[in-house]
Amino acid sequence: MGKKVRRIGVMTSGGDSPGMNAAIRAVVRTCAYYHTECVGYYRGYQGMINGESVNMNARSVRNIINQGGTILQSARSKGFLTEEGRARAAENLKRDGVDAMILIGGDGTFRGGQVFSKEHGFPLIGVPGTIDNDIYGTNYAIGYDTALNTVVEAIDKIRDTASSHNRLFFVEVMGRDAGFIALNSGIGAGAEEILIPEENLGLERLLDSLERSRRAGKTSSIVVVSEGDKIGKNVFELADYVKKNLPNYDARVTVLGHIQRGGRPSCFDRVLASRLSVKAVELLLDGKKDLMVGMLNNEIVSCSLDQALKGKHNINKDLLRISEILST
Ligand code: F6P
Repeated sequence: MGKKVRRIGVMTSGGDSPGMNAAIRAVVRTCAYYHTECVGYYRGYQGMINGESVNMNARSVRNIINQGGTILQSARSKGFLTEEGRARAAENLKRDGVDAMILIGGDGTFRGGQVFSKEHGFPLIGVPGTIDNDIYGTNYAIGYDTALNTVVEAIDKIRDTASSHNRLFFVEVMGRDAGFIALNSGIGAGAEEILIPEENLGLERLLDSLERSRRAGKTSSIVVVSEGDKIGKNVFELADYVKKNLPNYDARVTVLGHIQRGGRPSCFDRVLASRLSVKAVELLLDGKKDLMVGMLNNEIVSCSLDQALKGKHNINKDLLRISEILST
């Protein structure tokens, strides 16, 4: 049986995602509910290394459930990759009297946490927050749903101008090495083609399919390209190649970029963040450690951080078939 947890630290790390504030709020308020102290660390691991912390109570998180970004800010800390950096972070946590940590972020955040826990024995629980949705052990990560809605709204607007001008648009979306955003936003926005890293469509098939669309009477088209896709690696070169081979098409490129990470979280992300974070605090108070909370089939569950890092969250390849049928 580990030491009783009386003071919990919380931080957000890696790429921010809409709903992280709802998660912070839920951690802080759950701590308050269970009469447990709560400390926030700024800019993820960097704040732990620099000792930048703030005591938080239920009122510190008023009116943030609806805000994008993260009030604790975020960073991708290089210092935490070093043993020395992690040792400084551990000293600061001890100095602050923190018994356990809640890490809100993606796989990079959890990898750092795993090493930290092995070296310094701090119990920790991961809460998945990344628009990429590439985390094993949960159907959804916080921020993914909002990002999808942002992308679909943007593509709807692009479609307006694409159809006014009879143009082909390549829309690059985020996702790092995973195609979740591209695949689901592509279906949601009715894209003609979706290019994702998990499935290599190949340049020839793309040309064939665009040509078929044109012959079938489509005067404008949208191709959603995941930033990690092999043939779309450089979306501008891809568009040039298509223009050269299909001169009938007037093609343009839009890179949606960081707008996908901002904005007010959807209701889905707020509820998800709330459910996951209440569970994260309860697990720590129950003496559990080194777990990640997730939502599978609408149930809040947990798995070891090890499993979360080793496992692969696969995309649903049937969605590609659906997209092909529906873009006829
Ligand atoms: O992991 C989230 C994410 O937005 C990825 O989709 C993207 O590849 C990356 O972060 C961009 O990172 P940065 O904001 O550091 O440029």
